[in-house]
Amino acid sequence: KNLGIKITYAEQEKPKGLPDAFIVGEKIIGKHNVALILGDNFFYGQNLTKQLLNSVKLKKGAKIILHKVNKPELYGVAKIDKRKRVINIKEKPKKFLSDLAITGLYFFDKNVVNYAKKLKPSKRNEVEIVDLLNIYKKKNKLSAEYLGRGGAWLDTGSIDDYYNTSSFVSTLENRQGFK
Ligand code: G1P
Repeated sequence: KNLGIKITYAEQEKPKGLPDAFIVGEKIIGKHNVALILGDNFFYGQNLTKQLLNSVKLKKGAKIILHKVNKPELYGVAKIDKRKRVINIKEKPKKFLSDLAITGLYFFDKNVVNYAKKLKPSKRNEVEIVDLLNIYKKKNKLSAEYLGRGGAWLDTGSIDDYYNTSSFVSTLENRQGFK
């Protein structure tokens, strides 16, 4: 309420994979387009608000936000051509494909719920976000944007990462006095 937004929760009872969010949240999503953000992802950047406002305009298809990283093998990765079209995506590739990680912020049109229902679990017995993105890619409906160099994307999925993110926020807040 303080933030002027309304939050509704639905719980995923078992770790069935990221796209399961669309099945768990089906009633909340209704007939709307939808964004997915992973709970351990942290985004920072001057351009961020503008970029988000732009991305929510998406009417059809799906959009991913990419960021250059040192260790792409730890993430979903996308290869892009000169015209910013996604030509290949892979989850945690062992062989180098690109240094552009797919961040945990995704925008989808309303078809996503039905596509998510069609996915088959992978070897690790979860439905995979990359398989969902590939459905859009095959239909030529997957676009990408970059979180530019000045932006920061961190994930807080390990104690080390959590500490690094926390110290990043504290450094900026203490220095600038801004939240
Ligand atoms: C997940 C996604 C991966 C993405 C990452 C971003 O990986 O599967 O494609 O790049 O989040 O944080 P996980 O963190 O579950 O290993």
